Amino acid sequence: MPSLLRGRLLPLLAVVPLVLALAPAFAAPPPGGPDTLFPRLGDRSYDAVHYDVRLRYDPTTNRLRARTRLDASAPTRLTSFRLDLVGMRVTSVRVGGSRARWRRSGQHLVVTPRRPVQGRFSVAVAYRGVPRTYRDPDGSREGWVRTPDGAVALGEPVGTMTWIPSDNTPGDKATYRYRVTVPRGTTAVANGDLQGRRNHGRSTTWTWRARDPMATYLATVAIGRFTAHHSQVTSVTGRRIPVWTFADRKRDVPRSIRRALPRVLRFEERLFGPYPFTSTGLLVDDADVGYALETQTRPFFPYSVDEVTLVHEMAHQWYGDSVTVGDWHDLWLAEGFATYAEWLWEARKGGTTPAQQFDSLYARPASARLWSPAPTEFTDSRDLFGDPVYLRGAMTLQALRERIGDADFFAVLKAWARTYRHGTATTADLVAVAEEVSGQQLDQLFADWLELDGRPTGY
Ligand code: TRP
Ligand code: ZN
Repeated sequence: MPSLLRGRLLPLLAVVPLVLALAPAFAAPPPGGPDTLFPRLGDRSYDAVHYDVRLRYDPTTNRLRARTRLDASAPTRLTSFRLDLVGMRVTSVRVGGSRARWRRSGQHLVVTPRRPVQGRFSVAVAYRGVPRTYRDPDGSREGWVRTPDGAVALGEPVGTMTWIPSDNTPGDKATYRYRVTVPRGTTAVANGDLQGRRNHGRSTTWTWRARDPMATYLATVAIGRFTAHHSQVTSVTGRRIPVWTFADRKRDVPRSIRRALPRVLRFEERLFGPYPFTSTGLLVDDADVGYALETQTRPFFPYSVDEVTLVHEMAHQWYGDSVTVGDWHDLWLAEGFATYAEWLWEARKGGTTPAQQFDSLYARPASARLWSPAPTEFTDSRDLFGDPVYLRGAMTLQALRERIGDADFFAVLKAWARTYRHGTATTADLVAVAEEVSGQQLDQLFADWLELDGRPTGY
C-alpha cells in the first residue's frame, strides 16, 4: 500500500531533492526495481492491498489446507503476474472469480488470467500439503516450524511464502485477515485483533484481523495448546490497547514479564511516539529456532522471554513493523534502532549508557566482525543478522546523537516514526529527516558509519 504514504511525505518533499543531490551515495534502489538482496522475490507490477487467509490445520499430521485471496492493484495492464510460493500443492487459481492458468517455477507461482487485469483485481489460490520449514544460508530455520503440539509460522526474511502465496518483499505492505480452523481445544493465534472464535463440530475457527499494513515477513500464525492472558494497556495518548498474550501451556509467561510489557510499551511511547497498532501481546512457543521475532503486534519468543529481548522486539513495532525497510539492505533501520532501544532501557536507571556501549564497541580491534562489511554494504544474506547491522547500526545512532545533541536526536526518533508510520522508508529518507530536524549536513556522518568498510575514524 505505498500510496498511503504519499500524503505524509509532503512536508519533507522540499528537502529531499537537496539531500539527494548532496548524498548520491544514499540514492534509493530505483523505484519499481526488485529488492537488491532477494531480486527474485516480489513482483513490482502490482500492489498487494489485502490478504484473506483461510487455513485448516491438523497438528497430528502437520497438514494444511488453505485458500488465500489477495486483493491487489495494478497500475498498468498485466497479462500475467507472479506470487511467491514454495512447496504446497496448488489445486486452483482464480482471478476475479474465473479460473486462471498458472504454473510453478522455482519460488514463483506464475498466474495468467483469462483476461488481463488492470486496477483493482483479486486472485484466490487454493493449496494444500505439509508446509516447508525454510533453511536460511546462515543455518537458521524459518517458514512453517513444527512444535510438539502444532506449528508456528515465522517469516524473516523470506519464510512467509511457505504458507501464504504472496508478494513476498518488504516493500509491499498489506492488511490481513486470517480464519484458522483447528481441532477444538487447540488455539490459533495470529497478528492483530482477535475477531472471534466459533466452534463447529470438533473444530474451532479463530478469526484475526491485522488492520494496519504489514510486511509479509511479519505475518505469523501459531497453533498449539496455549495459555491465554488478556488485559489492557493505556497508551500515553489515553487510548486503551488490548493485550493478548499466548504461551505454550508447558511454559506460560511469568507474571514479571507480563507486568513488564505495559512498562516497556509506555517507555517506548515516550521516546518514539504513540504505539502504532491496535493491539499488542506476546507469543511464546516451543520452536527451537534460536531467535525472537518482531511479528507485528505480537512478537514471538522461543520458550521464554527476557526483559531486554522484550524491549528489542517491542521497539521493532515502531522501527521495522510500522516503519518498514523498503529493501533488505536497509535492515539496520530496524535492527540498529531496536538495539539502540535496548541501550536506552539499560540506561534508564543509571545502568550502562549508550555512550559507554559505544565506547566499548569502538574499542573492538580493527579486525573485528563488527567493522566489515559496513551495515548497508553486505552482499550475502548471511550478513543480515550480523554485528554490523545490529551493533554498528546502533552506534550510527549514537554518533548521530553526539553530533546533533539530545534534543534534536530524540526529535528525529519521533519524526521518523511519525513521518513513515505504516509505510516503508530508506536510509536516504532517514538522512533527510535528520538533516531537516537538525539543520545540519549529515551525509558524511551516515556514509562513514553505514558504508565505509572498517572502523570509522575520528569518533
Ligand atoms: N529480527 C530478529 C530480531 O532481531 C532476529 C532474527 C530473525 C534472526 N531471523 C533471524 C537472527 C535469523 C538470526 C537468524 O529480533
Ligand atoms: Zn531485531
